Amino acid sequence: MSILVTGGAGYIGSIVAEELVKEGEHVIVFDNLSCGHRSAVHPEAVFVYGDLADRQAVRQVFEAYPTIDAVMHFASYTLVGESIEKPFQYLGCNVTNGLNLLQEAVAHGVRRFILSSTANLFDQPERTPIDEEERIIPGSPYGESKHILERILHWLDRIYGFRYATLRYFNAAGASPTGERGEDHRPETHLIPLTLQVALGRRDKVTIFGDDYPTRDGTCVRDYIHVADLAQAHILALRALDGGSRVYNLGNGQGFTVKEVIEVCREVTGHPIPAEVGPRRPGDPAVLVASSEKIRRELGWQPRYPDLRTIVEHAWEWHRTHPYGYGD
Ligand code: UFG
Repeated sequence: MSILVTGGAGYIGSIVAEELVKEGEHVIVFDNLSCGHRSAVHPEAVFVYGDLADRQAVRQVFEAYPTIDAVMHFASYTLVGESIEKPFQYLGCNVTNGLNLLQEAVAHGVRRFILSSTANLFDQPERTPIDEEERIIPGSPYGESKHILERILHWLDRIYGFRYATLRYFNAAGASPTGERGEDHRPETHLIPLTLQVALGRRDKVTIFGDDYPTRDGTCVRDYIHVADLAQAHILALRALDGGSRVYNLGNGQGFTVKEVIEVCREVTGHPIPAEVGPRRPGDPAVLVASSEKIRRELGWQPRYPDLRTIVEHAWEWHRTHPYGYGD
């Protein structure tokens, strides 16, 4: 199968592309390198430099690779907080770039599509763990942009028989088990890489965003999922698409507080990692934990690395051996 992977030079996209290559798939990465890194692209994948905002460039990639029969769409602006400051960038670019891609995919006869979606669809969950029946209330323009794309996919399925899976990631973490690919965001905003940068000596301390939440130690609870387990979910979802479109929440079903995550980072690195409590970060729900029973039941998805310690160990191995990330 030939698979077009947008954002395949980014954190999750590059690791999914690596897994696809290992499975023997032909991978074409399309990325504008605004957030991704050229050296994150697997050497056996084809790399096409291009921007989804440029419809002509998107058309050209389908014309140049007529064997493409599935698309995995990772390329996106992804920061919740930034999306509140820049709503037009998120509601505009994430949606119109997705539409450019979808229109060209449909025009070129592609009928299989996987969308990276998000736990930010669930700003005020009524039940925890959160399953696919939960009411969708996006927590930000970022979450809304993913929700709009999910709705667009729903209509493309009805009208064109376009088969899609939307995978709503909770907190992606860790690195590829090979140690070759990992997280390198600039600027970095995520808890685990920031905490590990303290252990590397790149920062003095980590700030805990609020300790007055209604949780066991007052800090936010999140469900951290190993990026390689996310990759497996993409591969299973792709293979199941001919059986119909589907929507899955993806996490481990277990929540950890910010303080617990920092403690695991201390244990794994052997570094004291100073932490201080700061104000809450706007837009952070207290608890986000996924139920992934549906994908387990329907596709037999089974996380290989559900343990937070293993997730942090893999992240640490990546950061320790790549203290400046991809270095480009
Ligand atoms: N946190 C801190 N200090 C930091 C950074 C984060 O205390 O320096 C806390 C946050 O407040 C949050 C937790 O650590 O409670 C995790 O924060 P991240 O920034 O690592 O991740 P988020 O939960 O904010 O975001 C993730 C994905 C988003 C997705 C969102 C869904 O990165 O793409 O989950 O809620 F939209």
